[in-house]
Amino acid sequence: MLKNFLIESPELDNQTILVTGATGSFGNCFIETVVKRYKPKKLIIFSRDELKQYEMSQKFPESKYSFIRYFIGDVRDYDRLDMAFRGVDVIIHAAALKHVTIAEYNPYECIHTNVIGAENIVRAALRNKVKKVIALSTDKAVSPINLYGASKLAAEKIFIAANNISGEDGTIFAVVRYGNVINSRGSVIPLFKKLLQEGASKLPITDPEMTRFWITLSQGVDFVLSSLAMMNGGEIFVPKIPSMMMVDLAQALAPNVDREIIGIRPGEKLHEWMLTGDEALQTVELNDRYAVLPYIYEDTTRSFITGKKLTKRFTYSSETNAEWLDVNSLKEMINE
Ligand SMILES: NC(=O)c1ccc[n+]([C@@H]2O[C@H](COP(=O)([O-])OP(=O)(O)OC[C@H]3O[C@@H](n4cnc5c(N)ncnc54)[C@H](OP(=O)(O)O)[C@@H]3O)[C@@H](O)[C@H]2O)c1
Repeated sequence: MLKNFLIESPELDNQTILVTGATGSFGNCFIETVVKRYKPKKLIIFSRDELKQYEMSQKFPESKYSFIRYFIGDVRDYDRLDMAFRGVDVIIHAAALKHVTIAEYNPYECIHTNVIGAENIVRAALRNKVKKVIALSTDKAVSPINLYGASKLAAEKIFIAANNISGEDGTIFAVVRYGNVINSRGSVIPLFKKLLQEGASKLPITDPEMTRFWITLSQGVDFVLSSLAMMNGGEIFVPKIPSMMMVDLAQALAPNVDREIIGIRPGEKLHEWMLTGDEALQTVELNDRYAVLPYIYEDTTRSFITGKKLTKRFTYSSETNAEWLDVNSLKEMINE
């Protein structure tokens, strides 16, 4: 039984919601969920590629989903965001360049989308008096060793610090940070499935000891929705999710296929961290998640989420995690 992260549901009926990167893996699942559960006034899909938007419009036909709008735009383009954010109540910022090796090879592109894009979102949201902005981040932003992680760390800082300039009753900003999403575009599971379909005799494993945090797309969507409901502005929400060994993933997908150890790639960690000991000092623990609170907070009129304080000895890593996925539960998550 998968963990349910929708412990609180946000008020989205009659709201105008804009999702950057709505045509991606997260975005598709988010839009499907919102149209099933809520009655938004408008739901705006914001991304660059017209083909993905066209395909989405086939999935959500105008006749049934007249409240969905398709905006072609780039988060690097402040003026376009400023125009798109008119009358918007809630923004989910999912657009990103997210491939570690592509970001290493194209550093300016990664910084323009992930960092300058974050700044543009903040500026346009403040100007248009958007009520809430929540941005998606990754465990790779914790003690980053690659540019993708470093750019997401910079974006986290931009969103959290934005609360200091929004003023009383201004926009509130928060971040959700989580680990690998099962079945997302360009990730290891679709790769393994493709190799198996092509009749591969071996599955590539970078390192037999490698571990990762895992979350399903719909858990990620529910986690964003409940964090949206809970946020006061300034939090980084981190879900309590299980770890798994990469070798177990290969075992779950293809027990009878051999594995080939190809070695860890540049910019990859053996294990991921979701919180470090230093960050733990700023973190409170709730039932199903942690909330990292801001180091600097100007507006003393806003209250913070309360929970159990963590100690400096606490770390949350995919290697030392208390919760683990075995091959059977992994299969359940993959098939979800
Ligand atoms: N997948 C994971 O394992 C994972 C784990 C943790 C966190 N995250 C975070 O979750 C978010 C969503 O990830 P995902 O897996 O859904 O990614 P995805 O499938 O690659 O989707 C990315 C989306 O962003 C859009 N996009 C890219 N650059 C853009 C730009 N400059 N301006 C506007 N839109 C742009 C893409 O559409 P166009 O190309 O048409 O613009 C697409 O809709 C990202 O912020 C990622 O860092 C993902």
